[in-house]
Amino acid sequence: MSFHDKRIVVTGVSSGVGQATALALMNAGAFVIGLDIKPASDSCSQFILCDLSNPASIDEAVLQIKQPIDGLANIAGVPGSLPADVVFKVNFLGLRYLTNLLLPKLADRASVVNVASTAGAGWRNHKSICERLLTLGDWHQCLASFQELHMDAVATYDFTKELVILYTMLVASNQRHRGVRVNSVSPGAVCTPILAAFYDTMGDELLHNLKQQAGGRDAYPDEIAGAILLMLDPKGFWINGTDLIVDGGAEVLMNLEGLATPPLPFN
Ligand code: NAI
Repeated sequence: MSFHDKRIVVTGVSSGVGQATALALMNAGAFVIGLDIKPASDSCSQFILCDLSNPASIDEAVLQIKQPIDGLANIAGVPGSLPADVVFKVNFLGLRYLTNLLLPKLADRASVVNVASTAGAGWRNHKSICERLLTLGDWHQCLASFQELHMDAVATYDFTKELVILYTMLVASNQRHRGVRVNSVSPGAVCTPILAAFYDTMGDELLHNLKQQAGGRDAYPDEIAGAILLMLDPKGFWINGTDLIVDGGAEVLMNLEGLATPPLPFN
């Protein structure tokens, strides 16, 4: 894949999947504009400090981003060990606010990738509430409506990932006329700093099972980065409005249930 001369915005560049994605993009020739609440200089060409839980901070960051942009990878995220409001703001409201502000700066045929999660796989069960929140474009109105749900932070994490998957489809359909593709990537468990918090909030059993179902290990960040680059690839591949599950095949076993035999470990 070549990203020579392509300008790509990546959030979450200070750590984990965002850092791995930014480095892979730079290796492939891209100019990476990295956003994060924590400083990062080595993993991007231009770094902009940005708190995705704060719309004013996002406004300031966007002013520093020159157009055109050829790609946007929304990767930053926080776990359900943080307060529910923070999880909702960073994982959904901030992602949506940044994306909506950057859409006019995107070149025709640009690509957007939103990192969701297999934790968001249940979006069909909550489609009507997700749709209601998606129609509330205003930050404060949407937050107030979310607060009325009285959801705890752990459930909020899954809910925000469901919202990201549906928001991705919505933007994909709105931007299709100018060739802008919008997809989500849903990792299973990945070896990054956030994983310890997932063990605390989701429980050892679930994550242990997921690991076994994936063949005995969690993903490495550059394996998720590879999938993100595939979706960002300027060649396009006609992939649009899709949620790509990147979990080493763990979900296959859940879907097949009694039909499948447990996998032998594979490293
Ligand atoms: P990580 O903790 O290594 O990286 C998250 C990044 O987001 C950090 O650089 C952090 O500083 C940044 N961030 C946090 N709050 C922010 C804020 N308010 N404003 C701007 N940046 C902020 O975690 P990881 O694994 O790289 O996570 C990347 C994405 O992958 C997240 O959206 C996460 O939900 C998702 N994911 C991760 C999985 C895993 O097992 N690691 C599984 C499924 C999805």
